[in-house]
Amino acid sequence: MSDPNPNIAEAPSASGAAVVAKAPPPRPAATAAKPPAKKGADRRFFLFTWIGLAWTLLAGSSAVLSLGTVRFLFPNVLSEPPSKVKVGFPDQFDEGKVDERFKDKNIWVVKYQGRIVALSTTCTHLGCTPNYLEKEGKFKCPCHGSGFYGPAMGDPGINFEGPAPRPLERWALGVGDDGQVVVDKSRKFQQERGEWTNVDSYIKV
Ligand code: FES
Repeated sequence: MSDPNPNIAEAPSASGAAVVAKAPPPRPAATAAKPPAKKGADRRFFLFTWIGLAWTLLAGSSAVLSLGTVRFLFPNVLSEPPSKVKVGFPDQFDEGKVDERFKDKNIWVVKYQGRIVALSTTCTHLGCTPNYLEKEGKFKCPCHGSGFYGPAMGDPGINFEGPAPRPLERWALGVGDDGQVVVDKSRKFQQERGEWTNVDSYIKV
């Protein structure tokens, strides 16, 4: 014989017959109260986020600082062309001639009235490179037509036609230990400033 259902109780009725009364269904277990763990977890999450952010910033700053130190210790070295150019011995230059061997180095060497001078090949208008026209005895700029004296016309480099506002510039000159003429492009002399009389702007031969 099976055990009676504990949820069902038998009660005697007025007639004496047993009436089956259903017991109320068992209440569902009360939902367990949520532990206050979520708030704590949120706080931990924010704390870790901020710590992570702080570490990232610190690491970034350290990297930038290290890079700066390395750059300070090993600066970029610019390979600029040397400013001093040996152009030959003084007796190699002919009176009244323009030596164009160093035009690609921005130098014309000219011997004029017993002096050697070194002209810049940069037009004083907008910086183009003039050509030396031997037959016409002048330097002529192909860009806007400025003309400058060659040694057959007068003091080499003086502007006389076109928009160039002033003469070609001259480089400093000296004589090296081996006796060669040395052009020093770190110093220049401008006629309009009266600098062509400076003894460093020419060599007497
Ligand atoms: S750049 Fe030489 S004339 Fe203009």
